[in-house]
Amino acid sequence: MEELVSVILAAGLGKRMKSKYPKVVHKVCGKPMVKWVVEASKKAGSKEVIVVVGHGREMVEEVLGDEVKYAYQKVQLGTGHAVMMAEEFLPLEGMVLILTGDTPLITSDTLRKLVEYHISEGNDVTILSSIFDDPTGYGRIIRDESGNVVKIVEEKDASEEEKRVKEINSGMYVVDIAKLRAALKEITNDNAQGEYYLTDAVEIIRNMGGKIGAVVGESEEIIGVNSRVQLSVAEKVMRRRINEKHMENGVTIIDPDSTYIDAEVEIGRDTVILPGTILQGKTKIGEDCEIGPNSRIVDSTIGNGCSVTYSVVLSSSVGNNVKIGPFAHIRPESVIKNNVKIGDFVEIKKSVIDEGSKVPHLTYVGDAELGKNVNMGCGSITVNYDGKQKHKTIIGDNVFVGCNVNLVAPVKIGNNAYIAAGSTITEDVPEGALAIARSRQTNKEGWVEERIKKGRL
Ligand code: UD1
Ligand code: CA
Repeated sequence: MEELVSVILAAGLGKRMKSKYPKVVHKVCGKPMVKWVVEASKKAGSKEVIVVVGHGREMVEEVLGDEVKYAYQKVQLGTGHAVMMAEEFLPLEGMVLILTGDTPLITSDTLRKLVEYHISEGNDVTILSSIFDDPTGYGRIIRDESGNVVKIVEEKDASEEEKRVKEINSGMYVVDIAKLRAALKEITNDNAQGEYYLTDAVEIIRNMGGKIGAVVGESEEIIGVNSRVQLSVAEKVMRRRINEKHMENGVTIIDPDSTYIDAEVEIGRDTVILPGTILQGKTKIGEDCEIGPNSRIVDSTIGNGCSVTYSVVLSSSVGNNVKIGPFAHIRPESVIKNNVKIGDFVEIKKSVIDEGSKVPHLTYVGDAELGKNVNMGCGSITVNYDGKQKHKTIIGDNVFVGCNVNLVAPVKIGNNAYIAAGSTITEDVPEGALAIARSRQTNKEGWVEERIKKGRL
Protein backbone atom coordinates (compact mmCIF):
# COMPACT_ATOMS: atom_id res chain seq x y z
CA MET A 1 0.00 0.00 0.00
CA GLU A 2 1.11 3.51 -0.79
CA GLU A 3 2.06 5.51 2.23
CA LEU A 4 -0.80 7.29 4.01
CA VAL A 5 -0.46 10.51 6.01
CA SER A 6 -3.19 12.69 7.53
CA VAL A 7 -3.86 16.38 7.73
CA ILE A 8 -6.32 17.49 10.41
CA LEU A 9 -7.76 20.99 10.16
CA ALA A 10 -8.06 22.57 13.56
CA ALA A 11 -7.20 26.23 13.22
CA GLY A 12 -10.70 27.66 13.56
CA LEU A 13 -12.00 29.38 16.66
CA GLY A 14 -15.42 27.78 16.73
CA LYS A 15 -17.40 30.94 17.43
CA ARG A 16 -20.64 29.14 18.15
CA MET A 17 -19.11 27.34 21.12
CA LYS A 18 -19.04 30.73 22.91
CA SER A 19 -15.84 29.62 24.60
CA LYS A 20 -12.48 31.09 25.48
CA TYR A 21 -10.90 27.79 24.46
CA PRO A 22 -10.42 26.59 20.88
CA LYS A 23 -13.27 24.34 19.82
CA VAL A 24 -11.26 21.19 19.16
CA VAL A 25 -9.95 20.92 22.74
CA HIS A 26 -13.44 20.60 24.16
CA LYS A 27 -13.82 17.10 25.48
CA VAL A 28 -16.08 14.24 24.48
CA CYS A 29 -16.17 11.51 27.15
CA GLY A 30 -13.06 12.99 28.72
CA LYS A 31 -10.96 13.19 25.56
CA PRO A 32 -10.40 16.36 23.50
CA MET A 33 -12.28 16.17 20.19
CA VAL A 34 -9.17 16.58 18.08
CA LYS A 35 -7.49 13.71 19.92
CA TRP A 36 -10.31 11.36 18.94
CA VAL A 37 -9.68 12.30 15.32
CA VAL A 38 -5.89 11.90 15.60
CA GLU A 39 -6.32 8.45 17.13
CA ALA A 40 -8.84 7.32 14.52
CA SER A 41 -6.53 8.40 11.70
CA LYS A 42 -3.56 6.60 13.24
CA LYS A 43 -5.59 3.45 13.78
CA ALA A 44 -6.67 3.63 10.16
CA GLY A 45 -3.03 3.34 9.11
CA SER A 46 -1.84 6.91 8.88
CA LYS A 47 1.94 6.99 9.30
CA GLU A 48 2.10 10.64 10.16
CA VAL A 49 -0.43 13.21 11.34
CA ILE A 50 -0.14 16.92 10.61
CA VAL A 51 -2.49 19.16 12.56
CA VAL A 52 -3.16 22.65 11.24
CA VAL A 53 -3.41 24.94 14.25
CA GLY A 54 -4.21 28.62 14.58
CA HIS A 55 -6.62 29.88 17.23
CA GLY A 56 -5.43 28.79 20.66
CA ARG A 57 -2.60 26.80 19.09
CA GLU A 58 -0.76 26.41 22.42
CA MET A 59 -3.77 24.69 23.92
CA VAL A 60 -4.18 22.33 20.97
CA GLU A 61 -0.46 21.55 21.06
CA GLU A 62 -0.67 20.91 24.77
CA VAL A 63 -3.40 18.30 24.44
CA LEU A 64 -1.76 16.51 21.50
CA GLY A 65 1.87 16.81 22.56
CA ASP A 66 4.54 15.53 20.21
CA GLU A 67 2.53 12.65 18.78
CA VAL A 68 1.75 14.84 15.74
CA LYS A 69 3.39 17.55 13.63
CA TYR A 70 2.00 21.05 13.57
CA ALA A 71 1.40 23.42 10.67
CA TYR A 72 0.50 26.98 11.59
CA GLN A 73 -2.26 28.92 9.91
CA LYS A 74 -1.97 32.45 11.19
CA VAL A 75 -5.18 33.78 9.68
CA GLN A 76 -8.08 31.52 8.83
CA LEU A 77 -8.65 32.12 5.14
CA GLY A 78 -10.52 28.87 4.54
CA THR A 79 -10.10 25.11 4.50
CA GLY A 80 -8.11 25.21 1.23
CA HIS A 81 -5.73 27.75 2.71
CA ALA A 82 -5.37 25.59 5.82
CA VAL A 83 -4.24 22.64 3.69
CA MET A 84 -1.78 24.95 1.88
CA MET A 85 -0.16 25.60 5.27
CA ALA A 86 0.34 21.86 5.74
CA GLU A 87 1.73 21.30 2.25
CA GLU A 88 5.40 21.59 3.20
CA PHE A 89 5.02 18.70 5.63
CA LEU A 90 3.52 16.35 3.02
CA PRO A 91 5.57 13.73 1.21
CA LEU A 92 5.96 14.26 -2.56
CA GLU A 93 3.59 11.46 -3.41
CA GLY A 94 1.22 9.00 -1.82
CA MET A 95 -2.18 9.62 -0.27
CA VAL A 96 -3.34 12.11 2.28
CA LEU A 97 -6.36 11.68 4.48
CA ILE A 98 -7.79 15.14 5.14
CA LEU A 99 -9.95 15.41 8.25
CA THR A 100 -11.34 18.09 10.55
CA GLY A 101 -10.75 18.35 14.26
CA ASP A 102 -14.42 18.76 15.13
CA THR A 103 -15.75 15.33 14.10
CA PRO A 104 -14.90 13.18 17.13
CA LEU A 105 -17.30 10.39 16.19
CA ILE A 106 -15.46 9.30 13.05
CA THR A 107 -14.21 5.73 13.45
CA SER A 108 -11.01 4.16 12.21
CA ASP A 109 -13.11 1.46 10.48
CA THR A 110 -14.84 4.02 8.31
CA LEU A 111 -11.57 5.77 7.49
CA ARG A 112 -9.96 2.48 6.58
CA LYS A 113 -12.88 1.63 4.27
CA LEU A 114 -12.56 5.06 2.69
CA VAL A 115 -8.86 4.49 2.01
CA GLU A 116 -9.44 0.95 0.73
CA TYR A 117 -12.16 2.16 -1.63
CA HIS A 118 -9.89 4.98 -2.83
CA ILE A 119 -7.16 2.48 -3.67
CA SER A 120 -9.38 -0.19 -5.23
CA GLU A 121 -11.12 2.37 -7.46
CA GLY A 122 -7.85 4.03 -8.44
CA ASN A 123 -9.32 7.40 -7.43
CA ASP A 124 -7.50 10.71 -7.14
CA VAL A 125 -10.07 12.07 -4.69
CA THR A 126 -12.48 10.04 -2.57
CA ILE A 127 -14.96 12.02 -0.49
CA LEU A 128 -16.66 10.66 2.59
CA SER A 129 -20.25 11.79 2.10
CA SER A 130 -23.51 11.10 3.88
CA ILE A 131 -27.21 11.45 3.33
CA PHE A 132 -28.81 13.96 5.69
CA ASP A 133 -32.56 14.59 5.87
CA ASP A 134 -31.65 18.16 6.70
CA PRO A 135 -28.50 19.05 4.79
CA THR A 136 -28.61 22.73 5.82
CA GLY A 137 -25.17 24.23 6.35
CA TYR A 138 -23.18 21.50 4.67
CA GLY A 139 -21.49 21.44 1.28
CA ARG A 140 -23.50 19.37 -1.25
CA ILE A 141 -22.11 16.59 -3.43
CA ILE A 142 -23.07 17.34 -7.02
CA ARG A 143 -23.22 14.33 -9.37
CA ASP A 144 -23.88 14.12 -13.12
CA GLU A 145 -26.66 12.04 -14.75
CA SER A 146 -24.53 8.91 -14.54
CA GLY A 147 -23.90 9.43 -10.84
CA ASN A 148 -20.27 10.56 -11.13
CA VAL A 149 -19.18 13.17 -8.62
CA VAL A 150 -18.58 16.47 -10.39
CA LYS A 151 -17.96 18.92 -7.57
CA ILE A 152 -18.86 20.10 -4.09
CA VAL A 153 -20.92 23.26 -3.70
CA GLU A 154 -21.03 25.14 -0.42
CA GLU A 155 -24.49 25.99 0.91
CA LYS A 156 -23.86 29.71 0.53
CA ASP A 157 -22.87 29.32 -3.13
CA ALA A 158 -25.51 26.73 -4.04
CA SER A 159 -28.42 27.23 -6.45
CA GLU A 160 -31.93 26.33 -5.27
CA GLU A 161 -31.68 23.03 -7.12
CA GLU A 162 -28.29 22.23 -5.58
CA LYS A 163 -29.60 23.05 -2.11
CA ARG A 164 -32.18 20.28 -2.50
CA VAL A 165 -29.40 17.67 -2.72
CA LYS A 166 -29.32 15.61 0.46
CA GLU A 167 -25.88 14.05 -0.06
CA ILE A 168 -23.50 16.19 1.96
CA ASN A 169 -19.74 16.56 2.24
CA SER A 170 -18.42 15.32 5.57
CA GLY A 171 -15.25 17.38 5.14
CA MET A 172 -13.20 14.15 5.15
CA TYR A 173 -11.37 12.95 2.05
CA VAL A 174 -8.53 10.85 0.72
CA VAL A 175 -6.56 12.70 -1.97
CA ASP A 176 -3.59 11.84 -4.14
CA ILE A 177 -0.82 14.12 -2.91
CA ALA A 178 0.63 15.07 -6.30
CA LYS A 179 -2.86 16.01 -7.58
CA LEU A 180 -3.59 17.92 -4.39
CA ARG A 181 -0.40 19.97 -4.76
CA ALA A 182 -1.38 20.90 -8.31
CA ALA A 183 -4.95 21.79 -7.27
CA LEU A 184 -3.90 23.95 -4.31
CA LYS A 185 -2.18 26.29 -6.80
CA GLU A 186 -5.48 26.87 -8.58
CA ILE A 187 -7.84 27.46 -5.64
CA THR A 188 -9.09 31.05 -5.44
CA ASN A 189 -11.27 32.87 -2.93
CA ASP A 190 -13.80 33.93 -5.55
CA ASN A 191 -16.97 32.79 -3.73
CA ALA A 192 -19.75 33.92 -1.38
CA GLN A 193 -17.52 33.73 1.72
CA GLY A 194 -14.30 35.04 0.16
CA GLU A 195 -12.49 31.95 1.43
CA TYR A 196 -10.09 29.48 -0.14
CA TYR A 197 -12.32 26.40 -0.22
CA LEU A 198 -10.66 23.01 -0.10
CA THR A 199 -13.84 21.68 -1.67
CA ASP A 200 -12.93 23.45 -4.93
CA ALA A 201 -10.02 21.02 -5.30
CA VAL A 202 -12.55 18.36 -6.30
CA GLU A 203 -13.69 20.11 -9.46
CA ILE A 204 -10.13 21.27 -10.23
CA ILE A 205 -8.74 17.74 -10.04
CA ARG A 206 -11.64 16.44 -12.11
CA ASN A 207 -10.90 19.04 -14.77
CA MET A 208 -7.27 17.91 -14.73
CA GLY A 209 -8.58 14.47 -15.74
CA GLY A 210 -8.52 13.05 -12.22
CA LYS A 211 -10.93 10.42 -10.97
CA ILE A 212 -13.34 11.45 -8.22
CA GLY A 213 -15.42 9.13 -6.06
CA ALA A 214 -17.43 9.18 -2.87
CA VAL A 215 -18.24 6.72 -0.11
CA VAL A 216 -21.52 7.24 1.70
CA GLY A 217 -20.90 6.95 5.44
CA GLU A 218 -23.11 6.67 8.53
CA SER A 219 -24.47 10.10 9.41
CA GLU A 220 -23.77 9.45 13.10
CA GLU A 221 -20.01 9.42 12.48
CA ILE A 222 -20.00 12.55 10.44
CA ILE A 223 -21.77 15.10 12.58
CA GLY A 224 -19.49 18.00 13.23
CA VAL A 225 -19.54 19.74 16.59
CA ASN A 226 -20.07 23.48 16.19
CA SER A 227 -22.08 24.28 19.34
CA ARG A 228 -22.51 23.07 22.90
CA VAL A 229 -25.77 21.39 21.91
CA GLN A 230 -23.96 19.38 19.23
CA LEU A 231 -21.23 18.64 21.77
CA SER A 232 -23.83 17.01 24.01
CA VAL A 233 -25.15 14.98 21.06
CA ALA A 234 -21.62 13.72 20.31
CA GLU A 235 -21.09 12.96 24.00
CA LYS A 236 -24.23 10.85 24.08
CA VAL A 237 -23.26 8.80 21.03
CA MET A 238 -19.74 8.27 22.34
CA ARG A 239 -21.06 7.31 25.77
CA ARG A 240 -23.25 4.65 24.20
CA ARG A 241 -20.27 3.26 22.25
CA ILE A 242 -18.07 3.15 25.37
CA ASN A 243 -20.76 1.49 27.49
CA GLU A 244 -21.43 -1.10 24.79
CA LYS A 245 -17.72 -1.90 24.56
CA HIS A 246 -17.60 -2.61 28.32
CA MET A 247 -20.77 -4.71 28.20
CA GLU A 248 -19.28 -6.72 25.33
CA ASN A 249 -16.21 -7.28 27.53
CA GLY A 250 -18.29 -8.74 30.36
CA VAL A 251 -19.25 -5.76 32.50
CA THR A 252 -22.88 -5.39 33.62
CA ILE A 253 -24.23 -1.88 33.27
CA ILE A 254 -27.69 -1.70 34.79
CA ASP A 255 -28.69 1.53 33.07
CA PRO A 256 -26.36 2.69 30.27
CA ASP A 257 -28.33 5.93 29.91
CA SER A 258 -27.28 7.04 33.38
CA THR A 259 -23.72 5.68 33.38
CA TYR A 260 -20.90 8.00 32.32
CA ILE A 261 -17.58 6.36 31.53
CA ASP A 262 -14.59 8.19 30.07
CA ALA A 263 -12.74 6.84 27.08
CA GLU A 264 -9.70 5.47 28.89
CA VAL A 265 -11.38 3.76 31.82
CA GLU A 266 -10.75 0.02 32.21
CA ILE A 267 -13.21 -2.31 33.97
CA GLY A 268 -12.77 -6.02 34.80
CA ARG A 269 -15.37 -8.64 33.95
CA ASP A 270 -18.33 -9.43 36.18
CA THR A 271 -18.19 -5.99 37.69
CA VAL A 272 -21.64 -4.41 38.00
CA ILE A 273 -22.08 -0.69 37.44
CA LEU A 274 -25.20 0.72 39.06
CA PRO A 275 -27.00 3.87 37.85
CA GLY A 276 -25.65 7.35 38.38
CA THR A 277 -22.03 6.26 38.23
CA ILE A 278 -19.35 8.50 36.71
CA LEU A 279 -15.95 6.94 35.98
CA GLN A 280 -13.41 9.46 34.77
CA GLY A 281 -9.83 9.92 33.62
CA LYS A 282 -7.43 7.02 33.90
CA THR A 283 -9.60 5.00 36.25
CA LYS A 284 -9.09 1.24 36.40
CA ILE A 285 -11.57 -1.07 38.13
CA GLY A 286 -11.02 -4.76 38.79
CA GLU A 287 -13.28 -7.78 38.50
CA ASP A 288 -16.38 -8.60 40.58
CA CYS A 289 -16.87 -5.09 41.93
CA GLU A 290 -20.12 -3.29 42.54
CA ILE A 291 -19.77 0.38 41.68
CA GLY A 292 -22.59 2.81 42.43
CA PRO A 293 -25.27 3.80 42.59
CA ASN A 294 -24.32 7.45 42.38
CA SER A 295 -20.57 7.19 42.72
CA ARG A 296 -17.81 9.19 41.08
CA ILE A 297 -14.33 7.74 40.62
CA VAL A 298 -11.60 9.85 39.02
CA ASP A 299 -8.04 8.79 38.07
CA SER A 300 -8.10 5.94 40.57
CA THR A 301 -7.37 2.24 40.68
CA ILE A 302 -9.84 -0.10 42.40
CA GLY A 303 -8.95 -3.78 42.91
CA ASN A 304 -11.15 -6.87 42.66
CA GLY A 305 -14.26 -7.55 44.70
CA CYS A 306 -14.76 -3.98 45.93
CA SER A 307 -17.89 -1.97 46.43
CA VAL A 308 -18.15 1.80 46.10
CA THR A 309 -21.60 2.99 47.11
CA TYR A 310 -22.81 6.60 46.91
CA SER A 311 -19.19 7.70 47.23
CA VAL A 312 -16.42 9.75 45.63
CA VAL A 313 -12.88 8.45 45.03
CA LEU A 314 -10.26 10.84 43.62
CA SER A 315 -6.69 10.09 42.45
CA SER A 316 -6.27 7.21 44.87
CA SER A 317 -5.48 3.54 44.87
CA VAL A 318 -7.74 0.93 46.45
CA GLY A 319 -6.85 -2.75 46.96
CA ASN A 320 -9.01 -5.89 46.81
CA ASN A 321 -12.21 -6.57 48.77
CA VAL A 322 -12.53 -3.03 50.01
CA LYS A 323 -15.92 -1.59 50.93
CA ILE A 324 -16.38 2.12 50.48
CA GLY A 325 -19.51 4.01 51.48
CA PRO A 326 -22.26 4.75 51.52
CA PHE A 327 -21.36 8.45 51.53
CA ALA A 328 -17.57 8.30 51.79
CA HIS A 329 -15.08 10.70 50.25
CA ILE A 330 -11.61 9.40 49.37
CA ARG A 331 -9.50 12.41 48.49
CA PRO A 332 -6.32 12.45 46.38
CA GLU A 333 -3.17 10.49 47.16
CA SER A 334 -4.83 7.98 49.43
CA VAL A 335 -3.80 4.33 49.45
CA ILE A 336 -6.42 1.94 50.75
CA LYS A 337 -5.11 -1.62 51.02
CA ASN A 338 -6.88 -4.99 50.89
CA ASN A 339 -9.88 -5.86 53.05
CA VAL A 340 -10.38 -2.36 54.40
CA LYS A 341 -13.78 -0.92 55.22
CA ILE A 342 -14.43 2.77 54.82
CA GLY A 343 -17.96 3.42 55.99
CA ASP A 344 -20.52 6.15 55.91
CA PHE A 345 -19.67 9.83 56.30
CA VAL A 346 -15.94 9.17 56.33
CA GLU A 347 -13.37 11.39 54.65
CA ILE A 348 -9.88 10.10 53.91
CA LYS A 349 -7.22 12.49 52.63
CA LYS A 350 -3.64 11.73 51.54
CA SER A 351 -3.43 8.76 53.89
CA VAL A 352 -2.42 5.12 53.86
CA ILE A 353 -4.88 2.65 55.39
CA ASP A 354 -3.22 -0.73 55.71
CA GLU A 355 -4.83 -4.15 55.34
CA GLY A 356 -7.89 -5.12 57.31
CA SER A 357 -8.40 -1.76 58.99
CA LYS A 358 -11.86 -0.35 59.59
CA VAL A 359 -12.98 3.24 59.50
CA PRO A 360 -16.69 2.56 59.73
CA HIS A 361 -18.42 5.87 60.44
CA LEU A 362 -18.19 9.65 60.85
CA THR A 363 -14.40 9.93 60.78
CA TYR A 364 -11.81 12.21 59.22
CA VAL A 365 -8.40 10.72 58.45
CA GLY A 366 -5.97 13.22 56.90
CA ASP A 367 -2.19 13.03 56.40
CA ALA A 368 -2.15 9.77 58.34
CA GLU A 369 -0.69 6.30 58.16
CA LEU A 370 -2.81 3.58 59.67
CA GLY A 371 -1.28 0.14 60.24
CA LYS A 372 -3.00 -3.20 59.79
CA ASN A 373 -6.27 -4.09 61.57
CA VAL A 374 -6.76 -0.66 63.10
CA ASN A 375 -10.25 0.23 64.26
CA MET A 376 -11.17 3.87 64.16
CA GLY A 377 -14.16 4.48 66.41
CA CYS A 378 -17.16 6.48 65.35
CA GLY A 379 -16.41 10.19 65.24
CA SER A 380 -12.64 9.85 65.68
CA ILE A 381 -10.57 12.48 63.94
CA THR A 382 -6.97 13.15 62.99
CA VAL A 383 -6.36 16.79 63.82
CA ASN A 384 -3.86 17.44 61.03
CA TYR A 385 -3.93 21.21 60.71
CA ASP A 386 -2.66 23.71 63.27
CA GLY A 387 -3.89 26.72 61.34
CA LYS A 388 -0.61 27.09 59.43
CA GLN A 389 0.80 23.67 58.67
CA LYS A 390 -0.34 20.09 58.11
CA HIS A 391 1.12 17.37 60.37
CA LYS A 392 1.16 13.58 60.26
CA THR A 393 -0.57 11.03 62.42
CA ILE A 394 1.05 7.61 62.51
CA ILE A 395 -0.93 4.70 63.92
CA GLY A 396 0.60 1.22 64.36
CA ASP A 397 -0.95 -2.20 63.77
CA ASN A 398 -3.96 -3.47 65.76
CA VAL A 399 -4.63 -0.10 67.37
CA PHE A 400 -8.10 0.51 68.77
CA VAL A 401 -9.14 4.14 68.64
CA GLY A 402 -12.26 4.76 70.71
CA CYS A 403 -15.21 6.89 69.67
CA ASN A 404 -14.83 10.63 69.41
CA VAL A 405 -11.07 10.65 69.83
CA ASN A 406 -8.98 13.57 68.57
CA LEU A 407 -5.45 12.63 67.51
CA VAL A 408 -3.63 15.96 67.45
CA ALA A 409 -0.79 15.68 64.94
CA PRO A 410 2.12 15.28 64.85
CA VAL A 411 1.48 12.19 66.95
CA LYS A 412 2.42 8.48 66.94
CA ILE A 413 0.41 5.61 68.36
CA GLY A 414 2.39 2.39 68.93
CA ASN A 415 1.23 -1.09 67.89
CA ASN A 416 -1.57 -2.73 69.87
CA ALA A 417 -2.38 0.45 71.82
CA TYR A 418 -5.90 1.43 72.93
CA ILE A 419 -7.20 4.99 73.07
CA ALA A 420 -10.12 5.60 75.39
CA ALA A 421 -13.24 7.14 73.91
CA GLY A 422 -13.44 10.91 74.01
CA SER A 423 -9.68 11.39 74.45
CA THR A 424 -7.79 14.26 72.91
CA ILE A 425 -4.34 12.79 72.32
CA THR A 426 -1.47 15.26 72.06
CA GLU A 427 1.46 13.04 73.14
CA ASP A 428 2.75 9.84 71.53
CA VAL A 429 1.26 6.62 72.90
CA PRO A 430 3.67 3.71 73.46
CA GLU A 431 3.10 0.21 72.11
CA GLY A 432 0.53 -1.80 74.04
CA ALA A 433 -0.58 1.13 76.27
CA LEU A 434 -4.04 2.42 77.08
CA ALA A 435 -4.19 6.19 76.71
CA ILE A 436 -6.94 8.16 78.41
CA ALA A 437 -6.92 11.89 77.95
CA ARG A 438 -10.07 13.34 79.42
CA SER A 439 -11.12 14.37 82.92
CA ARG A 440 -12.49 11.67 85.13
CA GLN A 441 -16.27 11.51 85.52
CA THR A 442 -17.85 12.69 88.77
CA ASN A 443 -21.46 11.89 89.68
CA LYS A 444 -23.14 14.31 92.07
CA GLU A 445 -25.76 12.14 93.76
CA GLY A 446 -29.10 13.66 94.66
CA TRP A 447 -28.25 16.81 92.72
CA VAL A 448 -31.57 17.06 90.90
CA GLU A 449 -33.73 16.66 93.98
CA GLU A 450 -31.73 19.31 95.86
CA ARG A 451 -32.17 21.80 93.06
CA ILE A 452 -35.91 21.22 92.98
CA LYS A 453 -36.10 21.83 96.73
CA LYS A 454 -34.27 25.14 96.30
CA GLY A 455 -36.78 26.05 93.61
CA ARG A 456 -34.09 26.31 90.96
CA LEU A 457 -35.38 23.57 88.68
C1 UD1 B 1 -16.69 22.47 5.58
C2 UD1 B 1 -16.79 22.15 4.09
C3 UD1 B 1 -18.20 21.67 3.80
C4 UD1 B 1 -18.54 20.48 4.65
C5 UD1 B 1 -18.32 20.79 6.13
C6 UD1 B 1 -18.46 19.54 6.95
C7 UD1 B 1 -15.28 23.71 2.96
C8 UD1 B 1 -15.18 24.95 2.18
N1 UD1 B 1 -16.49 23.33 3.32
O1 UD1 B 1 -17.57 23.54 5.83
O2 UD1 B 1 -18.32 21.31 2.43
O3 UD1 B 1 -19.88 20.08 4.43
O4 UD1 B 1 -17.00 21.31 6.35
O5 UD1 B 1 -18.42 19.81 8.33
O6 UD1 B 1 -14.28 23.08 3.23
N2 UD1 B 1 -10.45 25.42 9.38
C9 UD1 B 1 -9.13 25.80 9.46
N3 UD1 B 1 -8.74 26.93 8.83
C10 UD1 B 1 -9.59 27.69 8.12
C11 UD1 B 1 -10.94 27.30 8.04
C12 UD1 B 1 -11.34 26.16 8.68
O7 UD1 B 1 -8.32 25.12 10.10
O8 UD1 B 1 -9.14 28.69 7.58
C13 UD1 B 1 -10.87 24.21 10.08
C14 UD1 B 1 -11.85 24.48 11.17
O9 UD1 B 1 -11.18 24.69 12.40
C15 UD1 B 1 -12.69 23.23 11.19
C16 UD1 B 1 -12.61 22.72 9.75
O10 UD1 B 1 -11.52 23.37 9.17
O11 UD1 B 1 -12.15 22.23 12.04
C17 UD1 B 1 -13.88 23.01 8.95
O12 UD1 B 1 -14.07 24.40 8.88
P1 UD1 B 1 -15.51 25.05 8.96
O13 UD1 B 1 -15.37 26.49 8.85
O14 UD1 B 1 -16.26 24.48 10.09
O15 UD1 B 1 -16.11 24.52 7.58
P2 UD1 B 1 -17.62 24.39 7.23
O16 UD1 B 1 -18.17 25.69 6.89
O17 UD1 B 1 -18.30 23.58 8.27
CA1 CA C 1 -17.79 22.68 10.52
